[in-house]
Amino acid sequence: MAKDTMQKINITRVENSKIESVDFNNLSFGSVFTDHMMVCNFKNGAWETPEILPYQAITLDPSARIFHYGQSVFEGMKAYKDKEENVWLFRPLENFKRLNISSKRLAIPELPEAHFMEGLKALLDIDKEWIPKNEGSSLYIRPFVFASGQGFHASPADAYKFIIACAPSGAYFSGKVRVLIEEKYSRSANGGVGFAKAGGNYAGQFYPTQLAIDKGYNQVIWTDDNTHEYIEEAGAMNIFIRINDTLITGPTSDRILDGITRKSIIDIAKDENIKVEVRKITVKEVVDAANNGSLKEMFGAGTAAVVSPIAGFGFKNQDYDLPELEVTYASRLKKRITDIQTNKSEDKFGWRYKL
Ligand SMILES: Cc1ncc(COP(=O)(O)O)c(C=O)c1O
Repeated sequence: MAKDTMQKINITRVENSKIESVDFNNLSFGSVFTDHMMVCNFKNGAWETPEILPYQAITLDPSARIFHYGQSVFEGMKAYKDKEENVWLFRPLENFKRLNISSKRLAIPELPEAHFMEGLKALLDIDKEWIPKNEGSSLYIRPFVFASGQGFHASPADAYKFIIACAPSGAYFSGKVRVLIEEKYSRSANGGVGFAKAGGNYAGQFYPTQLAIDKGYNQVIWTDDNTHEYIEEAGAMNIFIRINDTLITGPTSDRILDGITRKSIIDIAKDENIKVEVRKITVKEVVDAANNGSLKEMFGAGTAAVVSPIAGFGFKNQDYDLPELEVTYASRLKKRITDIQTNKSEDKFGWRYKL
C-alpha cells in the first residue's frame, strides 16, 4: 500500500450553488447530486493528493479500461445530521477497508487511509448544507474507483480515478417487498468476485432481476451457484430469516458481501438477547418453516434501505406469505441501528463517527 501522507487538499468551489433548486421534502434515492465532488488520480505508480472540484462530467479516452474490462469498485455509505446539526458517519473505516478488499481482487491499487478519510471529510465539509435533516433522509455517499488508463490490452490499467460523489436521498424502498428465490441464475461463485463491491456484480444481477420483476416480484433471493439450495443474499442486501424466535443469516464467503449493516445487526440483536445463528440456511428449511408456521420474518439489510422487510416469496411456481406481525425484529433492529446512526441514542459499540 502507498505511504499514508499527502499534501493539503486543493478546493475549487462552485460559483453558484444549486441547492435552492432541490426540494428536500421530496427526495428520491440517489438522483440529485451535491455541488462538489472529490477526485483523486492514480498515476506513475502512486495516488496523488485528492482535490475537491465542482460536480461535473468527466472525460475519458474511449480505450479507458473501465469500458472494456470492467475494472471498477465502489462503496455506499451515509452521512446524517442530528437536531444540533452535528454531522455523523457510521463505521466509515469499514467502508474504507472494504473498498481496498474489493480493489485488491480487481487488481486496482489500494488507497491509503488518509486519501479516503481526508478526501471524504473535505467533501462533506464543503457540502454539509446538503445533508438532509428530515426523518429517514440522509446524504448517500458513493466512493468509487475505476480504471481510467488507456489501451485495448486485457490487463490492469496504469491509471485510475477515485471519486466521491454525494446525493441527498430519501428512503430507498417504500413498503414491503415480494421476492423470488432464484433457481437458475447466480450473482457469484466460489473463487469469484461476489465478496467484492465490483460494478460487474450488479450488471450481472440486472437481467435475472428484471425476469423476476416481470413475474410480479420486486427482488431476487440469490442462492448458491453450485446447488441453488442455500439462501445467500436478497438483491443487493444481506438477508436475515427469523424462524420462531431465532434470527438466522448466512456466513460470509467468497460469494457474499460482508455487509456493514449485517454485522451491526448481528451485534445489536445479540445485545437485545435475540438468539442469532450465523450458518448456512437452505431453501428447504425456509419453505418448510413457511408451511408449518414457524417462519416469522425475512428481511434484507444494507446501507441504502437499512432494513427492508419481505412480505412473501415465490419458489417453484408457488407463493408463500409471511405473517403480518405487530411487533417485529425488523422494526426493532432498524430503530436501534438508525437511532445510533442519527445520534438519537447511546452508541455503546463506538460505531458513530463525528465530523
Ligand atoms: C450485494 C450486497 N450485499 C449486501 C450489501 C449490504 O452491505 P452494507 O450493509 O455494507 O451496505 C450490499 C450493499 O452495499 C450489497 O451490494
